[in-house]
Amino acid sequence: MKVLVIGSGGREHALVWKLACSQKVKKIYIAPGNPGTGDWGENIPIEALDFSALAKFAREKGVDLAIVGPEEPLARGIVDYFQEKGLRIFGPDKKAAQLEGSKVFSKGFMKKYQIPTAEYEVFTDPEEAIAYIKEKDFPIVIKAEGLAAGKGVIVAWTMEEALEGINSILVDKVYGSAGARIVVEEFLAGEEATILAFTDGKTIVPMLASQDHKQVFDNDQGPNTGGMGAYAPAPIVDEALMKRVFQEILQPTLKGLQEEGIDFKGVLYCGLMIKDGVPKVLEYNVRFGDPEAQVILPLLKTDLVEIAEAVIEGRLEELEIEWYDQKALCVVMASGGYPGEYVTGKEITGLEELSAREDIQVFQAGTKLEDGKLLTAGGRVLAVTAWGASFREVIEKAYAGVEKIKFPDAHFRRDIGGKIFKDREKYKQKSLREV
Ligand code: AMP
Ligand code: GLY
Repeated sequence: MKVLVIGSGGREHALVWKLACSQKVKKIYIAPGNPGTGDWGENIPIEALDFSALAKFAREKGVDLAIVGPEEPLARGIVDYFQEKGLRIFGPDKKAAQLEGSKVFSKGFMKKYQIPTAEYEVFTDPEEAIAYIKEKDFPIVIKAEGLAAGKGVIVAWTMEEALEGINSILVDKVYGSAGARIVVEEFLAGEEATILAFTDGKTIVPMLASQDHKQVFDNDQGPNTGGMGAYAPAPIVDEALMKRVFQEILQPTLKGLQEEGIDFKGVLYCGLMIKDGVPKVLEYNVRFGDPEAQVILPLLKTDLVEIAEAVIEGRLEELEIEWYDQKALCVVMASGGYPGEYVTGKEITGLEELSAREDIQVFQAGTKLEDGKLLTAGGRVLAVTAWGASFREVIEKAYAGVEKIKFPDAHFRRDIGGKIFKDREKYKQKSLREV
């Protein structure tokens, strides 16, 4: 079969790499893709938001299945568009994508269906928001309602930071209409984890738990980024916690969606804050996480195409999704200065040394090819991913890989996976060999 993957980041490279393992897949097109995806399929110069060109291409080439990576095309209704044209596509439709596209919608949804989350209020008027914050404790969290490329969340530790956040979103409109409303919510302390789940609107099946590293510097310091590294399965989510997540979050979410008349088909992402074994939802996304996909997909044993088809056809219940009993970890290498201003066009070397490895894969994100040279072209440049029997092993392997890759001003965290061992007292019921 012919598959079209839409997007151009590290997540999409991981999707393409996984699809290339499928016996069912004969040809992969990626729109627009990156040099990494080009190793496994054919990159097509069509942007992810150009729905008519994408649908026309899919029709002309006889594409059997389209898979959408990023949130923006989903929130703008690419799935509805493809379906209207009779094309098969994996992902939630526009109505379902509101769970990520509007934080006002998702918070209202969680409240209505009693899904545990932070207390909140919605504001359009900055004065009212300020009056509300004056009554509350710090830190407090301010979120632009709509999609802001992962930047629309401000954790304010002081009144000054809160005022600055409110003004930038509601008065200066730095996120345009995505910031027409804000959610002001209670700060939740704890440890974050990601639970991704496949759902066909009737059945919901969690994937392995993973953990992202949002802050740019070691020990979770500095501003938030798109994600600087990840690992799976996350030891913090043990069997008992996964059960709670399923009963208190995943099942009620699915039931709520059904009651709202929303037929969610695709990947549901629950960003969780966990404290004392209690999970609360920080956010929903409606797609694979990036960089979570880079560690989850290498561990997926079942054919991704089979899962996608079962989801689209509403027969997920029949499928048993299997995982490799291994650990995976990735370290994101970013351009110096990211998530602030950074320079691109720097030459990347050393990738070829890793290309023969079967337990390491470098997933590319912000890269481009020019005159046969691989250059940096974005903030997050690539994710060095390793898998193996233990976390100790994969940390060592991933960082050995990172050492081989060079580009000027490369920046990466040196503590991805460190939390597992720092917190090992918490997991002392498990032998160290297990983590
Ligand atoms: P979101 O896009 O809503 O997940 O927010 C991005 C990041 O901001 C999360 O991954 C958390 O690190 C942080 N965050 C969001 N909401 C809260 C909250 N209520 N309490 C503490 N941290 C939060
Ligand atoms: N890793 C966070 C996200 O994909 O939104």
